Amino acid sequence: MRILHLIYFALPLLLASCMASSGEEDNSNQETSDMNSKYAKDVHSFSEPNVAVVKHLDWAAEINFDTKIIHGMATWTLEQAEGANQVIFDTKGLSVMSVKDGAGNDLEFKIGDSNEILGQALTINITAETNLVTIDYTTSPDAGALLWVEGSSPFLFTQSQAILARTWIPCQDSPGIRFTYDARVKVPQGLMALMSAENPQAVVPQGAYSFKMEQPIPSYLMALAVGNVEFRPLGERCGVYAVPSLIEASAYEFAETEEMLIAAEKLYGEYAWGRYDLLILPPAFPFGGMENPRLTFATPTIIAGDRSLTALVAHEMAHSWSGNLVTNSTWDDFWLNEGFTVYFEQRIMEAVYGREISEMLGLLSYQGLVEEEKEIHEHHAADTHLKLDLAGRDPDDGMSAIAYDKGYFFLRLCEETVGRERWDAFLKTYFQSNAFKVMDTETFVDYITSNLLSEAEVGSINLNAWIYGPGIPDNCPVVKSERIEAVDKAIADWSNGTLKSADLNWNNWVYQERYRFLTNLPDNVGAERLAELDKNFKITETGNNEVLFAWLEQSVLNSYLKAYPRLETFLVNVGRRKFLTPLYSAMLKTGQADLAKSIYEKARPNYHSVATGTMDELLGME
Ligand code: BES
Ligand code: ZN
Repeated sequence: MRILHLIYFALPLLLASCMASSGEEDNSNQETSDMNSKYAKDVHSFSEPNVAVVKHLDWAAEINFDTKIIHGMATWTLEQAEGANQVIFDTKGLSVMSVKDGAGNDLEFKIGDSNEILGQALTINITAETNLVTIDYTTSPDAGALLWVEGSSPFLFTQSQAILARTWIPCQDSPGIRFTYDARVKVPQGLMALMSAENPQAVVPQGAYSFKMEQPIPSYLMALAVGNVEFRPLGERCGVYAVPSLIEASAYEFAETEEMLIAAEKLYGEYAWGRYDLLILPPAFPFGGMENPRLTFATPTIIAGDRSLTALVAHEMAHSWSGNLVTNSTWDDFWLNEGFTVYFEQRIMEAVYGREISEMLGLLSYQGLVEEEKEIHEHHAADTHLKLDLAGRDPDDGMSAIAYDKGYFFLRLCEETVGRERWDAFLKTYFQSNAFKVMDTETFVDYITSNLLSEAEVGSINLNAWIYGPGIPDNCPVVKSERIEAVDKAIADWSNGTLKSADLNWNNWVYQERYRFLTNLPDNVGAERLAELDKNFKITETGNNEVLFAWLEQSVLNSYLKAYPRLETFLVNVGRRKFLTPLYSAMLKTGQADLAKSIYEKARPNYHSVATGTMDELLGME
């Protein structure tokens, strides 16, 4: 570790000393070393931003659904340190045809050896005069970020986070490097194209779209979607895009979006991105949501018909501050994105739906944290630290309840320690003074100890244990919810037979209560008792996908065969990894590997690479 550290920081110095000896002016040395210290090392990118860094992208692209290839011309504006003679980009699976400078002259380039996780470095030779490079390239049909959905109406979407932007755009693919962009995208006639940028609200006749993102963003927030979608306004600054069959339901489900945005601004300051729209993707989307600036991408599985799963919108919206404004420096600092976002999400939920609802969500977050922490602890205890060390691994490995929920409880502890008033003022300033900047864990610790916490408070919080230590510290805040306590009592009574299935309060429970009930049934409750529940409450037919997921997991664990047809349709249609992993795992755990494999075979072509990557490994199909 130490040695690597030395080599990294020594390299730019070496460059500086070369320049000094080649007769550069004295002060150039100073400038170079200033620039050298600007960007932290990111082990998940080949780029050397302290030598040459991108500032703006002009992207021209043609989207071909027949070949599943994007032909792109990426023109990058560069800023370089004195004496820089190359610029390095990340690529994965891209074919580069040519690289030219601003005058149209060919530039020499080479593609490095392929690393399974990182892809290949694209190194371009430049001179002091090279301020533009144009890379002419095509993507591979199996580009990791892209999912080409076939069927009566084709759909394409990207998922760039964490390090998949490089599979569709040659870029300096590190969260610490920001750039603005313009794009011109040509798509088949009749389809709409949307990006993480200023967007159209109607289909343009020739399929030629233009985009502009004027605020600097990191590459993991680059996003594109192409499909037969319609737009509906939801308020002054908010709207929703969805396929025609879902537009009505989407407009109803997300009608509270603008209200959430107003609540968010009241908490932590002005929304910085202009519009906030939602795009409802095909069910193959591997995540619940993705905070692409100006246009959150969301799974259709949050459309429940009763607005009960909108916490996801609060979450992605909150990223407009935590993540998109103040960005984790590297993926080791991922909790700064997600922990803050879960905290902010909870505050938005509290403001819009009341504390009773948000505390139920808080308790579910705690339940998830305890379960996942235990599992992670068993095979890699260091992954239960907030600050991670993901060197040599896929940054995807850091996406766990630790960053999200341990992060949340740490911040909640800070709030409870200093009181809401001081805490909110601090957070507001934190977002303001770090807007459009990167943040790493050490700088954050520095910031919070100099701007908020007294020494005594640092001690009582036990800051170091939370951030650099394993597990869930003893002083974790305790969430109390009477309604969840009542559910827990119902579970106990129902389990020992004093409460009959028919007498459960199921029909009056909201989603959080139903989810709590289903995820806390006694082990081996048995198919008969599940059948009782199903007979009374028709759970197999529920329209709430979170409830359905919890129900299907119990059905698998207890071989409740009546739910299996629904299990299969769910798994074949829905590609959201959070649902897939537990369901396939439950089948494996209970001796139903054949079933798992036969369903997976049918479902796999519908899944995004993010999901197949995890499922292939789980099912031993690599
Ligand atoms: N930014 C994440 C999704 C992500 C993280 C993608 C890391 C790739 C790598 C997004 O904001 C998120 O957290 N989504 C959650 C939903 C949320 C309500 C917890 C998800 O998709 O489950
Ligand atoms: Zn998130």
